[in-house]
Amino acid sequence: MKDKKVFLKNFGCQMNARDSEVVKGLLLAEGYKLVDDAKAADIILFNTCSVRQHAEDRVWSGIGNIKDQGPKKPIIGIIGCMAQNYKKEIFKRAPAVDIVCGPSNIDNLALYLEEAIRSKEQILGADEKTRRDDIYHTGFYEDKVHAYVVISEGCDNFCSYCVVPYVRGRLRHRDHAKILKEIKGAVSQGVADITLLGQNVSSYADGSVDFTRLLKMASEIPGLKSLSFLTSHPKNTKQELFKIMAQTPVIKKQLHLPIQSGSDKVLKAMNRGYTVKKYIEMVDQYRGIVYNGKLSTDIIVGFPKETEKDFEKTFSLVREVKFDAAYIFKYSSRPNTKAAGYEDDVLPEIKQRRHAELLKLQKEISRSKTY
Ligand code: SAH
Ligand code: SF4
Ligand code: F3S
Repeated sequence: MKDKKVFLKNFGCQMNARDSEVVKGLLLAEGYKLVDDAKAADIILFNTCSVRQHAEDRVWSGIGNIKDQGPKKPIIGIIGCMAQNYKKEIFKRAPAVDIVCGPSNIDNLALYLEEAIRSKEQILGADEKTRRDDIYHTGFYEDKVHAYVVISEGCDNFCSYCVVPYVRGRLRHRDHAKILKEIKGAVSQGVADITLLGQNVSSYADGSVDFTRLLKMASEIPGLKSLSFLTSHPKNTKQELFKIMAQTPVIKKQLHLPIQSGSDKVLKAMNRGYTVKKYIEMVDQYRGIVYNGKLSTDIIVGFPKETEKDFEKTFSLVREVKFDAAYIFKYSSRPNTKAAGYEDDVLPEIKQRRHAELLKLQKEISRSKTY
């Protein structure tokens, strides 16, 4: 496989960005070369996202855009969350695709590539399994300063709108000693700004090591310059976390705490496991304990049966809490999820208006905070 040129494009979240890096590290170790130009590549890989319809549409059109590159068509591999979501349906919809490889199978990607090149057959790997931990230790990081370090894979929360538990599988925690080893390895290369990554970091557990303990242990690694983490779930984020943040200089004073909606009725239908009151109490606690702590959030507008009143509640919550940043999404019905069984009854133009109103409000808040 020596010298085969690989182009990899990433779609999706930080978890996918880290997986893309893992794939690059593994393929480099096998002798592949990385290229920035799809036209120069023998192999084109898309690491895909299924979280909203829009994310998938971008990938389908990306596949459509790979024109025949002369006499030899590149090998096309669809990896990541869409691969898991659609499995062999991808071959039907896009016959030019050679490999479909779900997130749990990226540790086998080099084998799939060899097989696809040799046999010219379409290859599918979409099991639900734990990946080999050594994939995290190739030492390849895109950035010279900052790295994401995965602490858990998958998610068990089953928020009713969310496809992640179906495409990333059940929650699995990485061994804490291996996480610490990976961080030490990165720091020894000078990559000393680390973000711990999981769909719900607050639920991390490896024997007696819970998230706050892991954070404390990581913070003590010599040479580490900065430590942060993503994402905290309001239902099991604890005051103890805020105390450790406040006491530990190396930990960034930054919390991403997705609220999703300001209406208890909607939160319940989303299966989020907290109320608005509890969320606000948590924010007060955080701001009381972590001096000058930054706070960001995610919000979905237009969830099924979200009324104007529900939306107004979200609007006033955003005005009240004054987030430093808010990522606002229009609800998108996802296959297999519980909410896919509800009628997607908020009209597109209403979703659009609610989205625009919240964006405008958040922009004003962000602007007022910078002065
Ligand atoms: N595990 C993280 C991130 C999950 S995906 C968490 O729980 O916060 C990132 C964001 O995408 C979510 O916070 C949510 O706001 C949004 N999202 C997820 N599914 C969605 C859907 N079906 N439609 C619109 N937005 C969605
Ligand atoms: Fe999706 Fe909820 Fe898990 Fe986040 S916590 S990944 S929103 S199911
Ligand atoms: Fe991330 Fe999208 Fe998968 S948000 S976990 S890449 S569905």
